Amino acid sequence: MRDLADIIKRYHVVIASINRVDYAPIVPAEGRGPIIRDITGREYIDLSASAAVMTLGYAHPRIIEAAGEALRRITHSTHMYGYVPETLELAEELARITPVDRPKVSFGLSGNDANEGALLLAKAYTGKEVFIAYENSFHGVGAAAASVSGIGLEREVVAKIGPWARTVFVPYPNCYRSPYPNNPGKCVKHYLEPLKEALDEVGDEAAALVLEPIQGDGGIIVPPDDYFPAVFKLVRDRGAIVIDDEVQTCVGRTGRWYAIEHHGLRPDVVAVGKGLGGGLPISAIIGREGIMESLPPLAYTFTLAGNPVTAAAALAVIREVEEKGLVKRAAELGERALQYLRGVQRRHNLVGDVRGRGLMIGVELVKDKETKKRAVEETKKVVWRAHELGLIVLFVAGNVLRIQPPLNIDWSTLEEGLARLEQAIEDVEEGRVGDEALKHVQGW
Ligand SMILES: Cc1ncc(COP(=O)(O)O)c(C=O)c1O
Repeated sequence: MRDLADIIKRYHVVIASINRVDYAPIVPAEGRGPIIRDITGREYIDLSASAAVMTLGYAHPRIIEAAGEALRRITHSTHMYGYVPETLELAEELARITPVDRPKVSFGLSGNDANEGALLLAKAYTGKEVFIAYENSFHGVGAAAASVSGIGLEREVVAKIGPWARTVFVPYPNCYRSPYPNNPGKCVKHYLEPLKEALDEVGDEAAALVLEPIQGDGGIIVPPDDYFPAVFKLVRDRGAIVIDDEVQTCVGRTGRWYAIEHHGLRPDVVAVGKGLGGGLPISAIIGREGIMESLPPLAYTFTLAGNPVTAAAALAVIREVEEKGLVKRAAELGERALQYLRGVQRRHNLVGDVRGRGLMIGVELVKDKETKKRAVEETKKVVWRAHELGLIVLFVAGNVLRIQPPLNIDWSTLEEGLARLEQAIEDVEEGRVGDEALKHVQGW
């Protein structure tokens, strides 16, 4: 049998650290739905869906059948030079469900390349070169996507390699950490001010504003309802376009097909990835026709993009989500999970805030509910203890637990996962988790 410690050791020898970071030491053997079994035979409830990718859970039969059929029949035929029926059908489905006027679709392989394409198109379409983006945002690791990512890691990278574009960063509307945690109106005003200043600073040179409709890796931050409608107006009044990065929120996760729909808005360009392929590498840019045609034919493509296997998987995801009513279900399950977690928040001093939409939920851990000082070490300990209790949960922003299970998870498994999470929180509060957990859990 393969040995867990041996695999981890060899991993660190040969795999470049630019690829990864340690959370908890799990070597998966197989997965079914929301459950992973590791090579030692231990089972875990996975509330991370492998970083918000496994929309339908592990090894979903419909994805296996659709992708398997395309794999056996043809495997690949490039859509750069020919016509692939699955890719066409997927594009038609994306054009149907995405809130973009007169949409055209371009395919890629990762969330990063979808955003990179959107950024290139924004420059080409507007003839302008400056971007407005958010502090602590994450859009990907390529030169363009990193350039507009406000998160610490990408700022560090860009400081070394130089920026692709001038970018003005503004704070994301985080009401919990604003002076107005209980007043959404004042919170909106508070966060619109720096955006107005940024737009004044840039004048008419802004090509686009890039946004996450819920800030994911920056801490699962849910904006107040009236914020983005005002932002869209301000940005469009200046002649800039709006790029909506739905890589982490897409395919119904937040209780709408797209999270920006909670605000009734129609962006100019939408980027999707992660959960679209249900575990297979596929991404897409869906944008207004004029924008999508502002670069020459073949100017933004990849040899393997539009591959029939990944397109068939994505079609299976969209159809399963639609036929089983999983968007509405994500909203309902998310509401139940939020209620449960608000109970956890009342019962535990460590839990400062619980927020989310649908099955995209953040649990922010603090040392003190008044000062809101981030409980960074405690968060790592919770993740470690959860792992010991048979639960996979990740964190972002140092102290925010990230709850993003598959959309088809049954309530009893979700509830059991949340109960294990509460147990882990209690164990950390009661001092039952030692400092050696900190050696294992790095996170980001
Ligand atoms: C909002 C958002 N955009 C883009 C990306 C990058 O996607 P990928 O890792 O598939 O390139 C991520 C990944 O975490 C993301 O959360």
